[in-house]
Amino acid sequence: MLSPADSIVPEWLVVPDDANDLAVAVWPASATRDADGALVLAGIRATTLAQTYGTPLLVIDEDEVRTRARAFRLAFDAAAGDNGTTAQVYYAGKAFLCATVARWVVDEGLRVDVCTGGELEVALAAGVAPGSIGFHGNNKSVAELERAVAVGVGTIIVDSAIEIERLAAITARVDTAQRVLVRVISGVHAETHDFLATAHEDQKFGFPLPEAEAAVARIREIPGLEFAGLHCHIGSQIFGVAGFRESASRVLELHAALLEGGPVPQLNLGGGFGIAYTRVDDPTPIETLAGEIVAAVAEGCAARGIPLPALSFEPGRAIVGTAGVTLYEVGTTKDVELDSGATRRYVSVDGGMSDNARTALYGAQFSARLASRAGIGAPQLSRVVGKHCESGDIVVDHEYLPADLAPGDLLAVPSTGAYCAALSNNYNHVPRPPIVAVRDGRAGVIVRGETVADLLSRDAGLETGTMNHDEGVAE
Ligand code: LLP
Repeated sequence: MLSPADSIVPEWLVVPDDANDLAVAVWPASATRDADGALVLAGIRATTLAQTYGTPLLVIDEDEVRTRARAFRLAFDAAAGDNGTTAQVYYAGKAFLCATVARWVVDEGLRVDVCTGGELEVALAAGVAPGSIGFHGNNKSVAELERAVAVGVGTIIVDSAIEIERLAAITARVDTAQRVLVRVISGVHAETHDFLATAHEDQKFGFPLPEAEAAVARIREIPGLEFAGLHCHIGSQIFGVAGFRESASRVLELHAALLEGGPVPQLNLGGGFGIAYTRVDDPTPIETLAGEIVAAVAEGCAARGIPLPALSFEPGRAIVGTAGVTLYEVGTTKDVELDSGATRRYVSVDGGMSDNARTALYGAQFSARLASRAGIGAPQLSRVVGKHCESGDIVVDHEYLPADLAPGDLLAVPSTGAYCAALSNNYNHVPRPPIVAVRDGRAGVIVRGETVADLLSRDAGLETGTMNHDEGVAE
């Protein structure tokens, strides 16, 4: 029989033997606890980081980012080499882009994928070689395309017929050949542990496979464009290779047909490699994934009697996700009695959906640990919530935390390196937290935190004490 408490516990969540333990897959490799039980990241106590930089604080472990970037490059290099081709790994900057991270990944041999003019400027300002940048986006403006062509972006991933004509006009005015890939929808959509395969996917990106041949034919007519191949991204937080295999097989059908009209030197299979957010997530090592994905593409090519193209991949989350740990200070706790008779402890922290929107947006699961000390109380089912004026402002939906967790304690939420800072916002006029990199006992700010003064500085009503109607558009 279920006890009252069991009824609010999701099936996957088990009571830990020790609510202070650090499940290996969700923390950076450097995470440990010191003799006092406090969390230590890259040799620095979480309490020291919080005292120095305040909370909330996003901590990024540099070695973790570098190690994972290197592992992806080496794994795909090896798998491609085994099959007689080459592979390039682009870091998908949408997961988290700032100058320092861009330099780390480039240093580890990765290229950079950007998907807006803003991300492009960050990469360029960081010194990323324009030729090693891939430029994505379903609605690139003429200005963004002009800038990309002018600076010599290596590859533009074309997403629509309108974009092809925009590029035709832009490249006609400048004397360069712009390399492009054509993004296609394979109809395979990966959903975490499973994947769905449909003929027609109802979404905004890319060309449906039946329309892509005409798009490529048009690109081949345009003197300023060099068609390099197809691109396909099937989704995010994917485990296993089944989705990649099915998608590659469908895309190779078109790839083979296109070879009849000219060269198709490349194939980009996108990103989406899953990471662990809680102890139940068990991602396959990248060496295995890379080997199996490249082998599947090689088999598909052999079956069609075509050469294996140069391959590229675009991991984002898998490079930075587990390198990030968010530190919060606990403000209040509250035990809420539910109708079922169960009790849920609400632990309120000093951030929330402004620094981590993923739980509210996607129902994402995270985990959490007491960071300033080791707890001594029994594991207590808890929900970590933020300070925003919204009941959906949940950071960690279900977690067992020590029952003695109290106001003033530091709480750490791991696996927040990807799509947390990137999606952060100023809801309720909460300033965005600083981002600090740690390595070998040293820490440094890589993105400064916002202040309330930053937020007020955008409020035009405060500049003059009155709204300036003179600047407005007059009929
Ligand atoms: N390449 C393309 C074309 C993409 O659209 C994406 C992600 C990636 C690569 C990188 O995917 P990754 O390896 O990071 O899974 N905000 C959502 C994820 C949106 C992903 C969008 N595209 C989240 O927080 O889960």
